[in-house]
Amino acid sequence: MGQGLTGRSAMANTVTADDSGHPEHSSAGEHPSAGEGVVGHKLDIVGLEKDFESGRGRFTRALDGIDLHVDTGEFVCILGASGCGKSTLLNIVAGLEHHTAGQVLVDGEPVVGPGADRGMVFQAYSLYPWRTVAENVAFGLECAGMAKAERSERVRELLGVVGLSNFADVLPKKLSGGMRQRVAIARALAPRPDLLLLDEPFGALDAQTKRSMQEFIHLVWRRTGSTILMVTHDIAEAVYLSDRIYVLTSRPGRVGAEIPIPFGADRAPRVKRDPRFLDLLDEIEDMLHSPRPDDDPSGHDGELHPDDTYEVLV
Ligand SMILES: Nc1ncnc2c1ncn2[C@@H]1O[C@H](COP(=O)(O)OP(=O)(O)OP(=O)(O)O)[C@@H](O)[C@H]1O
Ligand SMILES: [Mg+2]
Repeated sequence: MGQGLTGRSAMANTVTADDSGHPEHSSAGEHPSAGEGVVGHKLDIVGLEKDFESGRGRFTRALDGIDLHVDTGEFVCILGASGCGKSTLLNIVAGLEHHTAGQVLVDGEPVVGPGADRGMVFQAYSLYPWRTVAENVAFGLECAGMAKAERSERVRELLGVVGLSNFADVLPKKLSGGMRQRVAIARALAPRPDLLLLDEPFGALDAQTKRSMQEFIHLVWRRTGSTILMVTHDIAEAVYLSDRIYVLTSRPGRVGAEIPIPFGADRAPRVKRDPRFLDLLDEIEDMLHSPRPDDDPSGHDGELHPDDTYEVLV
């Protein structure tokens, strides 16, 4: 991973935003050359490939030639069928997974491992069950060596942000799913990450809780000026929350489309009734369900199968 280049430092400053919300988004297009990102991009991914070893010298390609970027202060969603490599992509950006080829740059520096500059909320509930809510939120701050008094203040502030001030001393098992995800988000936000990575954070929630969590994350984004890369299966969620959407193809994951969303940062739930919103839902639905030109006609379901492997001779 990282192709032997120097990685970014563990701690970085929070992205700042003006009172009205977000910094201006820079236009994109040009790709960074080796070892440097495009100015204004928080994240640059260039030619990313990921192969998983599937035994006896055989490999499964999960991601193939992924090019994408996220501007500073931008909210970008990744949509794609189950098994197309969305979690793998996020894990690579988080530094939890090695990539096989290509570049992953945060602020122009290659990712070589996990760091406090990137906060992650995982697809499955991932709180430490033996730690209270406050202790869960404090975890990254403890790892960073923050003094106890400062840590307690930061945790208090974060629990206020996620509306869980009265649950500081409660264990996760006593919380609802939505509350647990709010703790996970508070934990990810605690070290003031430059880049927040959300892997289907609301996938397991009922429709009503999901709606309120969408409002919540939208508010967090606006208030903190964070840069967010979020994976979701839910097309309406992606259109409602994002500045841009990348649609990944299945098997292996490639960028099939990049879709700008025209609603601005201060959108309200009524945007969901805007005809443009409904048109976007239809357009993306068609994209996700139409076969790629190079799809094999045998009717694969988008999941990787044991046969979808290739052999590497070494
Ligand atoms: N550690 C691993 N070893 C081998 N194969 C893996 C590993 N992790 C993921 N894969 C394979 O890579 C492909 C992509 O997996 P990934 O979890 O990234 O998909 P996903 O798009 O997040 O799916 P979902 O929407 O169901 O969460 C899958 O086919 C999976 O089987
Ligand atoms: Mg996943």
